[in-house]
Amino acid sequence: MTIQIAKAETDSKAELYVHLAKQLRSLLEGEHDLIANAANFAALLYHSLPDVNWTGFYLYKEGELVLGPFQGNPACVRITIGKGVCGTAAELRQTVVVENVHEFPGHIACDSAANSEIVVPLVKDKRLIGVLDLDSPSFARFDDEDARGLNELAEIFIQAVQSSSGSEFKL
Ligand code: SME
Repeated sequence: MTIQIAKAETDSKAELYVHLAKQLRSLLEGEHDLIANAANFAALLYHSLPDVNWTGFYLYKEGELVLGPFQGNPACVRITIGKGVCGTAAELRQTVVVENVHEFPGHIACDSAANSEIVVPLVKDKRLIGVLDLDSPSFARFDDEDARGLNELAEIFIQAVQSSSGSEFKL
């Protein structure tokens, strides 16, 4: 089977996210495995979004965030809830957009190339699954349109993965 990621021929962010939503639905169709779907989601974002140097997941396990599938340079493995951009988004259960990571109190620098970041919390049935994290080498790379688009994509992912009865979904 060959999976092709067709580049969207558009400069509009809104159209790009509509295109990505279609691709993600088709990539995840019929598959409920959390790790497999997270891996394909991270790869789709990395290869389709311009100006990103890291796309991936931290998954909620036993009270902290643990590195999950990603694309980009190796990253720090464990993040405490409430710490850094990821831990803040997880604690608040809100998308956090950071224009300049060097000014974010407690930012965890995994890749010195990153200058801006967006983190989307993943919540299914009121339980935290983890967070989706994207880094960019540009300042102020992510805006409200990215937040909206990535939340829509995250919702497709959340719907596709099956709740496990394990403790990793509980906060
Ligand atoms: N910068 C993140 C840590 C994860 S890396 O960006 C991959 C943070 O402050 O939570």
